[in-house]
Amino acid sequence: MRIAIIGTGVVGRTLAGALQRLGHDVVVGTRNPTETAGREEWAAAHVPLRALGMAAAGADLVVNATNGLASVAALGQVGSEHLAGKVLLDVANPLDFSQGFPPTLGIKDTDSLAEQIQRAFPEARVVKALNTVTASVMVNPAALGDGDTTIFAAGDDPEALQTVVGVLRELGWQDIVELDGLHNARGLEMWMGLWVRLMGALGKPDFNVKLVR
Ligand SMILES: NC(=O)c1ccc[n+]([C@@H]2O[C@H](COP(=O)([O-])OP(=O)(O)OC[C@H]3O[C@@H](n4cnc5c(N)ncnc54)[C@H](OP(=O)(O)O)[C@@H]3O)[C@@H](O)[C@H]2O)c1
Repeated sequence: MRIAIIGTGVVGRTLAGALQRLGHDVVVGTRNPTETAGREEWAAAHVPLRALGMAAAGADLVVNATNGLASVAALGQVGSEHLAGKVLLDVANPLDFSQGFPPTLGIKDTDSLAEQIQRAFPEARVVKALNTVTASVMVNPAALGDGDTTIFAAGDDPEALQTVVGVLRELGWQDIVELDGLHNARGLEMWMGLWVRLMGALGKPDFNVKLVR
């Protein structure tokens, strides 16, 4: 699959490397490819960096891995014409660190970042997934609990949801809970309220839950 990852933080870098190793044709979109290419962490990466619109233009799947409070603006720079008809996997969390730790959620309860993205880009097919675990766990679920922990995926478009579920399986996820309806992203994003506190208590980000049912 041709995959464009938007965002060059640890999530963008980790997903790009893993999806490329799985054989996908991956490019990463950034506001300033020259500046980003000069960063130490990208020097060793063998993933092509592109300007935002260029990255998404030829993609089948676009991944939003930008800062959650800037995601709608960042995707605006990608361009709605480059998102129309595409599966848009949103892994971002609208975390607001302006008042320190723990962060609050800039969007919650009656709305979600995923829904805001869907409203801003109505022709994209938004699916929320992977936002509930840290980057290293996203691409290596086997590292925890013998690989038997749970990941969630929520979306309105059944075909887009199955595309994302397929990618999750390729990444090694076995216990995938599908939530019908993008409004369910509210729950996935509000999980952050507990997740950041667990990270504080455990002193590490690499943990996850198993949904026993
Ligand atoms: N860190 C984790 O393990 C983890 C786990 C689950 C979910 N998440 C979520 O995944 C997303 C990415 O997290 P991260 O830690 O990799 O990086 P991050 O620091 O949250 O985001 C960095 C990326 O956002 C882009 N960005 C920042 N401000 C922007 C603006 N005003 N306009 C356009 N683009 C902007 C930057 O793009 P440029 O390349 O253009 O500078 C940069 O690549 C976040 O929403 C985070 O909450 C993170």
